[in-house]
Amino acid sequence: MDESGLARTDLGLFLNLNATDAALPTYRRLFLALRTAILSGRVQGGVRLPSTRALAAQLGIARNTVKSAYELLQAEGYLHSRHGAGCFVAALPVAQGLRSGAAGALAYNAGDEDQMPAVRARPGLLQPGLPALDQFPYRRWQRALQAAASTPALTATDPQGDAGLRVEIARWLGLQRGMQVAPSQILITSGSQQGLYLIANQLTTAGDRVLLERPGFSGTEQAMRLAGACVDHIDQQALARTDTLGAARLMVLTPSRNFPMGHTLAADRRLALLNWAAGHDAWLVEDDYDSEFAAGPALSALFSLDTRDRVIYAGTFSRTLFPGLRLGYLVLPPAWVAAFVAVRRIMDGGLSSLPQRALAAFMASGDYSRHLRRMKRLYAQRRARLEQQLAESPLRALPIIDAGGGMHLCLGLPDTVDDIAIAQRLAGEGVGARALRLYDPEGRPGLVLGFAADAEDAMRRGVDRLVRVLAPRLRAPD
Ligand SMILES: Cc1ncc(COP(=O)(O)O)c(C=O)c1O
Repeated sequence: MDESGLARTDLGLFLNLNATDAALPTYRRLFLALRTAILSGRVQGGVRLPSTRALAAQLGIARNTVKSAYELLQAEGYLHSRHGAGCFVAALPVAQGLRSGAAGALAYNAGDEDQMPAVRARPGLLQPGLPALDQFPYRRWQRALQAAASTPALTATDPQGDAGLRVEIARWLGLQRGMQVAPSQILITSGSQQGLYLIANQLTTAGDRVLLERPGFSGTEQAMRLAGACVDHIDQQALARTDTLGAARLMVLTPSRNFPMGHTLAADRRLALLNWAAGHDAWLVEDDYDSEFAAGPALSALFSLDTRDRVIYAGTFSRTLFPGLRLGYLVLPPAWVAAFVAVRRIMDGGLSSLPQRALAAFMASGDYSRHLRRMKRLYAQRRARLEQQLAESPLRALPIIDAGGGMHLCLGLPDTVDDIAIAQRLAGEGVGARALRLYDPEGRPGLVLGFAADAEDAMRRGVDRLVRVLAPRLRAPD
């Protein structure tokens, strides 16, 4: 027994200290270890803890470290000190469900991230949706961030989104997408996914019929189903026959570049869809996720043809800048703005103003459009390189079935091949290709191969692994 009446092994601090994430500062690890011991009842209320000097000597750590841990425990109410008598454990109810002695029950473990489904895995080779981060203008972006941080406006955020950023986006949409938009119609989101969620939440009630283009992005369907919508899928033929669509609350589509095939919706079909929406009091949601990288000039947005306020436009910076930015926007019919902003206020009070202000400055300076022009050229080169590498490989007979441009290509596979199983195999090899049937379960099998993020060497490694996995499955049976 030591001076506190507790054997050192009773505290189990050595064990717990080492079981806690080594990246944390020692005082924090000690705090967590002690807190676990107290909460689990292993160290009971009323017990006097060793003096900071004694515990520091026992654990071989600095006395100030122990002092900091004790201070934190005291500040959170686990300990109280009696003048001249030392630190005592507070009388607390025993917390249920804690594993006694395991610091891990409360402490953060570095390995936890791998278990969390919400955290995206590290990108693989040929990863779709990933821009050329090796070519990102980091310095200019850092400068924009720095300038944004020094402005006094950081004290508040507008739930609709930074006013300066909305001005820049409105200007950009006018120049690039032929859209006449007032900044007051724009709502900044944390990406298109949030935009789709907000639309599902605001415009549909449980049981509403929602039409989704097929092939299409699975995140859209998830957002609609979460809101309780009844989802029907429409293929390209059905899109052409609006008289057979029937009534629906809304339709989500990617008219300027289908996801993931890249084809566009011709003007006659766009006009027919606008008429269908007006006739059925339905909304058209235009998900314009990467029209910036269309082969040739980008088509005008469907939104720009709408004279009856039936179209909601969703844009994102995930592909034009980087996915971790988590910034996008909705362009709303004026009548809907107040309701969306009200929800926004309740949801999160608005997004962090710093990256929004930085992005506004980045756009205003011309850095954004310069970057996009460079990326458009680069992606065309990277696409050509991937096509060439495939053409020179044993996979040369496989057709490229998408419409060109963009940041990924779609490689067709024979009908007998299970593309989902192949994509899983490829993931094990560090290749981030996606199965085409994820986006259209009844369509043909294939692989979606990203080419934007990979410089030549990485792309070659990706193609080599693709060959290794695919070639044995493509050989005709003897
Ligand atoms: C077609 C499409 N729409 C929306 C999204 C969501 O994008 P964001 O990162 O802006 O949430 C994606 C992401 O891959 C997508 O492919």
